[in-house]
Amino acid sequence: MLDRVTSVLSSPTLKFETETRERTADIDALIAKAFGPGRYAKTAERLREGNTPSKDFCICALDGERVAGAVRLWPILIGESPAQFLGPIAVDPEYRSHGLGAALIERACRAAASAGHRLVLLVGDRAFFEPLGFEGVPAERLIMPGPVDPRRVLWRALQPGATEGVSGPVRVA
Ligand SMILES: CC(C)(COP(=O)(O)OP(=O)(O)OC[C@H]1O[C@@H](n2cnc3c(N)ncnc32)[C@H](O)[C@@H]1OP(=O)(O)O)[C@@H](O)C(=O)NCCC(=O)NCCS
Repeated sequence: MLDRVTSVLSSPTLKFETETRERTADIDALIAKAFGPGRYAKTAERLREGNTPSKDFCICALDGERVAGAVRLWPILIGESPAQFLGPIAVDPEYRSHGLGAALIERACRAAASAGHRLVLLVGDRAFFEPLGFEGVPAERLIMPGPVDPRRVLWRALQPGATEGVSGPVRVA
């Protein structure tokens, strides 16, 4: 168990890994605890069902064998432009407010950028994601696959100019 006196991120027991099949059940349980059953009704879920996670960009934080947090990315198309859809992101309540959520997002985005991806899209709270490099998408640019508060649709360019000319229906790649 983590020593709560030390910061989560500097703990020697904490490590980041790409998600492997043996962690999937624990990560699913963490997500279920964080979001509850209502998550399946969300428009974001329409971009996950029938899709396969981008396994190299799905990152989890492990404290020993315990999953402390996780984030998943999924391949999508915006119009004809490939992008990655981020979510869910969840951190175990015991590990929150130490920068772990931010670190997971940064690592997932960096992994996607290293593989040549240009754009990450998500539906989430601006107050959390804007300091992490995400910005609001002008409502007229995207057609989401269901109802969504347009103020919560955010993207982050992984390469300069990556949002230029990107528009259209958002769908599973
Ligand atoms: C959102 C979440 C992943 C953040 O994990 P974390 O490890 O605490 O993140 P960080 O330590 O990097 O950042 C924490 C800060 O982000 C901000 N923040 C966190 N959640 C936020 C939210 N939903 N809206 C706005 N700001 C938020 C706060 O400023 C917070 O600081 P505080 O705890 O001192 O108030 C975690 O709270 C969680 O799993 N929540 C439930 C699932 C969820 O809502 N995920 C999607 C969020 S849109």
